[in-house]
Amino acid sequence: MKALVLSGGKGTRLRPFSHSLAKQLVPIAGAPVLVHVLQNIRDIGVREVGIIVGDNGEEIMELLGDGSAMGLDIAYLHQEAPLGLAHCVAVAADFLGDDDFVMYLGDNVLPDGIEAAARDFAEHRPDGLVLVTKVADPSQYGIAELGADGSVGALVEKPARPRSDLAIIGVYFLTAAVHDAVRAIRPSRRGELEITDALQHMVDEGRPVTVREYTGYWADVGSVDALLACNRTMLERLTSEVRGRIDAASSVHGPVVVEAGAEIARSHLEGPLIVGSGTVVSDSWIGPGTVVGHGCAVRDAELEESLLLDGANVHGVRGLSGSVIGRGAEVTAPCDGRGTRLIVGDHSRVEVAA
Ligand code: G1P
Repeated sequence: MKALVLSGGKGTRLRPFSHSLAKQLVPIAGAPVLVHVLQNIRDIGVREVGIIVGDNGEEIMELLGDGSAMGLDIAYLHQEAPLGLAHCVAVAADFLGDDDFVMYLGDNVLPDGIEAAARDFAEHRPDGLVLVTKVADPSQYGIAELGADGSVGALVEKPARPRSDLAIIGVYFLTAAVHDAVRAIRPSRRGELEITDALQHMVDEGRPVTVREYTGYWADVGSVDALLACNRTMLERLTSEVRGRIDAASSVHGPVVVEAGAEIARSHLEGPLIVGSGTVVSDSWIGPGTVVGHGCAVRDAELEESLLLDGANVHGVRGLSGSVIGRGAEVTAPCDGRGTRLIVGDHSRVEVAA
C-alpha cells in the first residue's frame, strides 16, 4: 500500500499567508499541517509516499526531504496546474502502479488518526472506501447519498441542494480500479477532474465503493478561521513540557510547551499554548489557544487565541485575539504619538478597534 498526498493548490482562502508559504506548511499546534498528515500515514504502516506539489514544491521538499527523518520514503510529483483531485491521481499513475493507496488531502487534519479505516479497507478491500462525516453545511463539500441499506447511492460534488449531510472528508482508500475511472471522466463545471466523479463512475460500473463515518475530530484548514479553530482544538490535547527558561517573576497555568532556547521573563502564560524555540517573551500575558513560533519576540503585550509564525514581533500591544501574524511580521504600538499605522500586504485582513 502506498500513500498519495495532495499538496498543490493555491490556497486562496489562506491569503496573505499562502502568497509566500505553501498552505500545507502553515503550522497547527506547533507543526506544519503536512507533518500531521504524514504522521497519520506512518501510523498505518505505509512508508512509500508520493506528494503532489505545484508551484510550492521547493519549500515542501526543503522541509521534508526524502522523508527518511520521518521514517518515510517520499517521492515528489509535479502537477502543472491545479486541475482537480482526480487529475492528481492521473499525474501519480506511474508512481502508484497497480498498488492500493490512501489518498490524503494535504490540508486536512485528523488528529484521531485513520487506523480503523485502514483496517476496514484491508479487511473488506472495496475498490473505494471514503471517509465521511456529518456537517452543517453540506453544499460546501462532496456529499455521499446512501441507500436504505447503507450502500452508496450517489457521490455528488458540492450540490446546491444536498440530499445528505454526509460530507466526504479528505481521506480516500482506493485500489488500482480508480485509474480506469479517472480516464473515463470529464472535467466538472469548475473545470476540474473531480475524484467524486471518478468514485461515482466506479459506483455506476457496479464496483464496490463504501463509506465509513469518521467520528473523530476533522478539520479542513483551508481558511484562516478554520486554521485557528483547529489549532485551538489540537492545543486542548497538549501535555506540558518546559525546556526553555521561565524566570521566577513569571507564572504559568494550564498546559504549556516552552521549547528549548525560549525565554520567558516577567510574564504570565495561560495554557494551552506553545512558545517556540529561540523566542523571547517579556512583560507579557499570553492566553490560551496561542502558538508563538520560533525566533519571535513578544514584549509588553497581551494576546490569546492567536498564531504567531516564525520571527514575528509583537511589542506594546494589548487585546490581540483570533489573530494570525505572518513570518517576520511586526505588530507594535504606534510610535511618535501617531495614530494607527498599517503597512499591510496584499490580501491581508485587519480588524481595528473603533
Ligand atoms: C475537496 C473535494 C470534496 C471534499 C473536500 C474535503 O474539495 O473535492 O469532495 O469534500 O475536498 O475537504 P475542495 O477542497 O477541492 O473544494
